[in-house]
Amino acid sequence: MDIIMFGAGASARILYDEIAQTGKVVAFADNDMGKWGKSLFGAPICNPEKCLNELKYDRVVISAFCGLEDIRNQCIALGVPPEKIVTSYFESSKESRKVFLKNLAPILNEQEQEADVAEAGVYQGGFSKWINYYFPNRTLHLFDTFEGFDPRDLAIEREHAFSSEEAGHFRETSVDLVMAQMPYPEQCKIHKGYFPDTAVGLDRKFCFVNLDLDLYLPLYRGLHFFKDKMTDSGIILVHDYFSSGYKGAQAAVETFLSESGKVIRKYPIGDNASVMLTGNWGHN
Ligand SMILES: C[S@@+](CC[C@H](N)C(=O)[O-])C[C@H]1O[C@@H](n2cnc3c(N)ncnc32)[C@H](O)[C@@H]1O
Repeated sequence: MDIIMFGAGASARILYDEIAQTGKVVAFADNDMGKWGKSLFGAPICNPEKCLNELKYDRVVISAFCGLEDIRNQCIALGVPPEKIVTSYFESSKESRKVFLKNLAPILNEQEQEADVAEAGVYQGGFSKWINYYFPNRTLHLFDTFEGFDPRDLAIEREHAFSSEEAGHFRETSVDLVMAQMPYPEQCKIHKGYFPDTAVGLDRKFCFVNLDLDLYLPLYRGLHFFKDKMTDSGIILVHDYFSSGYKGAQAAVETFLSESGKVIRKYPIGDNASVMLTGNWGHN
């Protein structure tokens, strides 16, 4: 079976071995033209329009965690028969994280009176919209460059081989695009720019924070920023703790835990990617 994987980033690296056991990966399609002409696992990375029209394939496996639905629509618009498109690899992970939030939110909403919620690493708002939906009465702080990865975070990625990401990845978004999805936009506060610099001076308490920044440095700095701002039963989720494509996420959590001076515990949430941090935020 000939397979085109759509998405040639960290998610593709995570999935590749599993996909390669089901057939031959003949190419990677990717919307980032900076990757066209390069190769991954010996297969070329191409313009989606070109490879989906010119190559012979039996399956298009979507190997991108974010923007999965948009990519599926793009494939259909490019003439890929829907039955050839496989989205299942990341769908169940997304659904598990959403169900976790759906069940957690009523508990936190009952326990915590005065506290905000936040997501750092918003991209197109795929998870932010659910935070907004399940915490309708709380201010939701949204942190992102809205221009993709910042070069300042990438040196340490290379130095420790955490990931092979490049500046500008995840740039295909905007504040307007994100805000248009929010069920309660009046509750959202956008903090556009380099995180956590954009959080300096924000003196609020938080009962739920999702850190989905992929890279070591902003995750590590973000954990230190939020640690003194969490309510007693507050929860921080760190995405990609279990993802082999973003090794910096786990390293950031472990370094933070070893330095925090607090009794913080970590648990998986069933999405095969995130770790939940909870504990005695207020006490040593
Ligand atoms: C994987 S995406 C977030 C996905 C999103 N949470 C979702 O579930 O759909 C990672 C995001 O982190 C942002 N990001 C990474 N480092 C950042 C930094 N230092 N400051 C601001 N945003 C950053 C990127 O711009 C990108 O939009």
